[in-house]
Amino acid sequence: MKRYVVTGGAGFIGSCLVRELLALPGGNQVAVVDNLLTGHRKNLDEVKDRVTFHEVDICDLAGVRKALQGADTVFHLAAIPSVPRSINDPVPSHEVNINGTFNVLSAAKENNVRRVVYAASSSAYGDTLVLPKVEDMQPKPKSPYAAQKLMGEYYCSVFTSCFGLETVALRFFNVYGPRQDPNSPYSGVLSLFMKHLIARTQPTIHGDGEQTRDFTYVEDVAGLLIKASEAQGAAIGNTYNAGNGNRYSLNMVWDTLQKIEGVSITPNYGDSRAGDVRDSQASTEAAVRDLGHAPRFTLEEGLRRTLAWYKSDLQA
Ligand code: UD1
Repeated sequence: MKRYVVTGGAGFIGSCLVRELLALPGGNQVAVVDNLLTGHRKNLDEVKDRVTFHEVDICDLAGVRKALQGADTVFHLAAIPSVPRSINDPVPSHEVNINGTFNVLSAAKENNVRRVVYAASSSAYGDTLVLPKVEDMQPKPKSPYAAQKLMGEYYCSVFTSCFGLETVALRFFNVYGPRQDPNSPYSGVLSLFMKHLIARTQPTIHGDGEQTRDFTYVEDVAGLLIKASEAQGAAIGNTYNAGNGNRYSLNMVWDTLQKIEGVSITPNYGDSRAGDVRDSQASTEAAVRDLGHAPRFTLEEGLRRTLAWYKSDLQA
């Protein structure tokens, strides 16, 4: 029997992970630490009787310490995400993404937690001359968010080397899927595309729409998080890409969605966003080799599943 803690467990990625952890054999315990800033209790509705919920901000060290008591594995997903949010309002994202991460690692060390798996970000790479992006490339963060997430990786590695706390960092590549919240000015682009597609309204595309992303379906990321919690050897203290290994332009994705839905809606093209990375594509080689990464969802399959979920959620 294991005791898992998921920080950010009420978010769309965290809640998917929680459901997958509960489905593992062994009668494991799952606790969530979330301050409900960007997460929602309703994301955990189906499983709420099986999860211990700590409404705690990761900036509250005492609260985090308490929530991590007896934990075996901590998945640290709590963050203030979004590149533009970190530019418009850098102080809170600095406090949560750097100081909050330090608190989680400190509390994990004090509580003799076996392992912390950390949600890092592909944004750490910035613009690279070469694609796909490989973990040993020199990071070139272009935004406060990217720098903050990179600092978290460094802290993970140092907690392993200096304090013996096992850590694995996964650089998420534009994760999408059911429950991603489309109702914030900082929502991920695919959740916004879903909302506009269903409402038959025009999405806004920043720039020419030819920027590319390695959109990765949430269940593939949750599966990799669990693998990273068990991996041995080289994985410990290391950072891996958590991507699908492909890249698609925003124009291509919007075209695919229109075809799936059988509609024709021309997007509005607006200004490019500050801090935006042009192209993003993961090399999955190291994650496949060391963690057993095996993404299952093509973009089209992931988009179909995500769209079906948004439609059913609207009717609920
Ligand atoms: C970045 C990271 C990602 C991380 C996320 C956290 C990169 C390559 N990716 O995502 O790993 O998880 O931050 O928030 O750095 N866009 C539009 N219209 C919109 C909204 C966005 O055109 O209405 C564009 C953006 O300008 C960008 C792309 O869509 O080019 C993706 O934006 P978004 O979904 O916000 O994610 P990233 O900033 O790429």
